[in-house]
Amino acid sequence: MARPSRAVDSTFGTCERPGIRLRPDEVPSAEAERESSQPKARANRKAREEMSAPNKSYDPVEVEALKPEEIDRARDAALAAIAAAGDLEALREVKAAHAGDRSPLALANREIGALPPHARAEAGKRVGQARGAVGQALKKRQEELEAERDERVLVEEAVDVTLPYDRVPAGARHPLTTLMERIEDVFVAMGYEVAEGPEVEAEWFNFDALNIAPDHPARTMQDTFFVRGAEDGEDRDLADSGVVLRTHTSPVQIRSLLDREPPVYVICPGRVYRTDELDATHTPVFHQVELLAVDEGLTMTDLKGTIEHMVRSLFGEGLGTRMRPSYFPFTEPSAEVDMVCFVCRGESVGNPDRPCRTCSSEGWIELGGCGMVNPRVLTACGVDPERYSGFAFGFGIERMLMFRHNVEDMRDMVEGDVRFTRPFGMEI
Ligand code: DAH
Repeated sequence: MARPSRAVDSTFGTCERPGIRLRPDEVPSAEAERESSQPKARANRKAREEMSAPNKSYDPVEVEALKPEEIDRARDAALAAIAAAGDLEALREVKAAHAGDRSPLALANREIGALPPHARAEAGKRVGQARGAVGQALKKRQEELEAERDERVLVEEAVDVTLPYDRVPAGARHPLTTLMERIEDVFVAMGYEVAEGPEVEAEWFNFDALNIAPDHPARTMQDTFFVRGAEDGEDRDLADSGVVLRTHTSPVQIRSLLDREPPVYVICPGRVYRTDELDATHTPVFHQVELLAVDEGLTMTDLKGTIEHMVRSLFGEGLGTRMRPSYFPFTEPSAEVDMVCFVCRGESVGNPDRPCRTCSSEGWIELGGCGMVNPRVLTACGVDPERYSGFAFGFGIERMLMFRHNVEDMRDMVEGDVRFTRPFGMEI
């Protein structure tokens, strides 16, 4: 008599499929235990199993799983689940459920032994084919999903080699540089040329040709950095080297005149050096902008108009300039130039209610020195002073930056901290 179908061990619950039953030996029945403990009964059973037919252990309920429809159904379910697996993780679960040890087909496979011998080959073939089809489908889907994943990874993790290769923040151009370039632009627009000269300069260019006498105080080592010449030994007195770090941009006047035939119109911004201590209002390295115009018929009026144009271009309309008599060896006459304070526009003068920090309530801001080129300078450069005249000026860039932008401490300009330079913007 057929054994009634057994309850399925709950630990296998997830693997249970319709028509699939556990093998009889997986959960030993009381009868089996009894039998196996009795040698005689065991021998009988063995003999029974060895007989070709009928197979008494054949159990139609147990082998329900081997019915062709059941195998086809298990295979189709597996193939559908494989096709539906959307990613490798899902496929892994499908594989465990449909091709794992507890999958319907694996369980069915184990039932083959329960069939009568003549039916085993047939069932074995069918189960084998179904498992083969599932295995192949798994392999194919695995390959497809891997290819999809690789393609996705290539896109998602692609490295854009055209992007900046690091995240070091860009620095900022120094406002001294951009201010010098602005000044250059003002004059280039008027037809001037930008001229340059060396920072390590021959004493002759820096002093002699500019009519600065050998005993002039500026020529002492208290004011000027003397540089040992290339051929000088250690014992050579530095003050005799004839080489200095230029103390102003005026030597570029000389170089420009020697290089060109008049008319000459040049603007020369650049770095200069003096033996000052670094403090809030001095620095041993600073910047000047030099202007030189040499042509026929130039007068002080041209000089004044040129300076006013520059002030208008850099500070806006309506700010007057004035000249105060002064002395420079290379100009005659010489003057100091002031412009009306662009912050208070002169209104702070005598007005205690409106003090101005920029001009100290004086109403004027000093720009620098200027004058008509001394005929001795023209002569030193081979220019005929009877035919040509010239004007020149030299302004300090740091000073201009200080009052233009309310920079109170010059040291901020030399420390190279981008927190100082960045607020001036990225002027190109
Ligand atoms: N070179 C002078 C200085 O450094 C400034 C100067 C004054 C330049 C008058 C000039 C000028 O061209 O004409 O103090």
